[in-house]
Amino acid sequence: MCGAHNGCTLGDLMATQNQAPAPLTEDAALVDFLGAITSSPAMELEWIDLLSQLEYVGCRKIVKSIGFESVTLEVLRHVSEEASHAYLLKAVAEEGGIVGRSWREGRFAEAGWGYFQNLDRRVSALPGSDGLRYPAVSWAIERRVLIVYPAYLRQSRNESLKKALRRILAQEERHGAQFADVPFPEGMAADIARIEEALWPDFVAAARRRL
Ligand SMILES: [Fe+2]
Ligand SMILES: [Fe+2]
Repeated sequence: MCGAHNGCTLGDLMATQNQAPAPLTEDAALVDFLGAITSSPAMELEWIDLLSQLEYVGCRKIVKSIGFESVTLEVLRHVSEEASHAYLLKAVAEEGGIVGRSWREGRFAEAGWGYFQNLDRRVSALPGSDGLRYPAVSWAIERRVLIVYPAYLRQSRNESLKKALRRILAQEERHGAQFADVPFPEGMAADIARIEEALWPDFVAAARRRL
């Protein structure tokens, strides 16, 4: 057994990583949802605006979850890349005609806030998560992004979006690999995965009600 703070060896931590939950897989509900989104260019723009919002929220969560004294070059790179993802997606939404609109007015905004805020709150409430909020939430998000973005890229016919998303996805793949290497205490990765995997279908259902 390896407690969070009592003398884990690197070997213990590596063993813990090996117990990580199974990778997420693309499911029929996601493909169906993205099919509904991409069948309407106007609806897809709303979706793109939501993704921009979520990228921005992700960026802000990093800033808020990590202490000033713990900011590293790698953290700054992550913040700047997530901010650029929000920018690239917002630029596509504006090019498509959603110009100067507040995220508060977004069709899917509430569903998106609910997903992210609940994830953050529940992960932060896990025992032993003190000081691990940043990697824990990031790991959960990157894991989901690496399923959703490739599926979306395949289904979209919006060329500006596809160009932006390819660029974003290359960085998300690096983020995903980076957080997959974090040695969480035993059982925590499974807990984080369980939390996120319970919230995601609720988010899709809430977004579907707004189609
Ligand atoms: Fe991102
Ligand atoms: Fe990312």
